[in-house]
Amino acid sequence: MNFTDQTVIVTGAGSGIGRAAALRFAELGAHLAVVDRNTAAATEVAAQAGSGALAVSADVSSSDDVQAMVAAVIDAFGRIDVLCNNAGYGLPGNVTEIGEEDWDSLMAVNVKGVFLCSKHCIPHLAQTGDGRIVNTSSYTAAVGIANRAAYVASKGAVSALTRAMALDHVDQGIRVNAVAPGTINSPYFDKMISEAPDPQALLDELNGRAPMHRMGRPEEIAEAIVWLAARESSFTTGSVLTIDGGTSAW
Ligand SMILES: NC(=O)c1ccc[n+]([C@@H]2O[C@H](COP(=O)([O-])OP(=O)(O)OC[C@H]3O[C@@H](n4cnc5c(N)ncnc54)[C@H](O)[C@@H]3O)[C@@H](O)[C@H]2O)c1
Repeated sequence: MNFTDQTVIVTGAGSGIGRAAALRFAELGAHLAVVDRNTAAATEVAAQAGSGALAVSADVSSSDDVQAMVAAVIDAFGRIDVLCNNAGYGLPGNVTEIGEEDWDSLMAVNVKGVFLCSKHCIPHLAQTGDGRIVNTSSYTAAVGIANRAAYVASKGAVSALTRAMALDHVDQGIRVNAVAPGTINSPYFDKMISEAPDPQALLDELNGRAPMHRMGRPEEIAEAIVWLAARESSFTTGSVLTIDGGTSAW
C-alpha cells in the first residue's frame, strides 16, 4: 500500500486508534493532516509523523472549525484523497441516567462530526475521482451492549450513514467504509482502568469480552483503516468491517 502524493485527513488523531492510523499513513508516504480538538496531542503526533505532517486543532462538532480545517488542508496540500472520521467518545449509562446535554454532546461529536467533515470534504474528494472515506464505528452498533445507550445509538448511526454515503457518492468515485472495532486498549481505557475501584477486576472484564481473552491494540485497527483507505480495497464500499477478536461471533 502506498499513499505517496495523497492527502489523508485523520480526525481524533491525537490519541489511540486515530494516532496509530495517522502514523501508519505517514509511514506509507501520505501528506497527513492530524486533526484533534486537543491541540497539544495533534502537534505531538504530527511531529512524530514527520514529513511535513500538518497539525490542525479542530472540534469536529463545530461547523466553523471543520470548514477552517478543510481550508487549512487545501492550503497546505492542495487536495484531499482520504478522510478518516475517527473522532469520538463513549459515555456510561442507560437512557434514564444519561442527561440530555450529555446525549446531545455525544451525538454532536460521534454523528454530526462525521456528517460535517464528510459534507465539507466530499467536494474535494470528488475532484480526485478516487476519494475514500473511512469511518470509525464500533462492534456495539451491531450487537448492542448494556450501560452505553448513547454511544451504541451513535455508532449505529455511523454504520448506517456509512452505507447511505456509499450509495450517494459512488458515482463520484468515492468509496465509503467503516471499521467496527471491539474493545481496544487505547488511552480511553487506560484512564478508566486506573480510576476504577478495582483496576484488576475491570482489566479482567475488558480482556474477557473477546474469545481471544485480550483487548485489541490500536495498531490492529489502524491496519484495517489504512487498507479500506488504500487503492488495494478498490471493490469495497458500504462495508462495515468488524475487528473484535471474535466478540460478536459469540
Ligand atoms: N477504544 C475502543 O475500545 C473503541 C472501540 C470501538 C470504537 N472506538 C472508536 O474509535 C474512535 C477512537 O477511539 P479511541 O479509543 O482511540 O479514543 P481516544 O480517546 O484514545 O482518542 C480519541 C481522540 O479523539 C479526540 N476527540 C474527541 N472528541 C473530538 C472532537 N469533538 N473533535 C476532534 N477531536 C476529538 C480526542 O481528543 C482524542 O485525541 C472513537 O470513535 C471511538 O468511539 C473505540
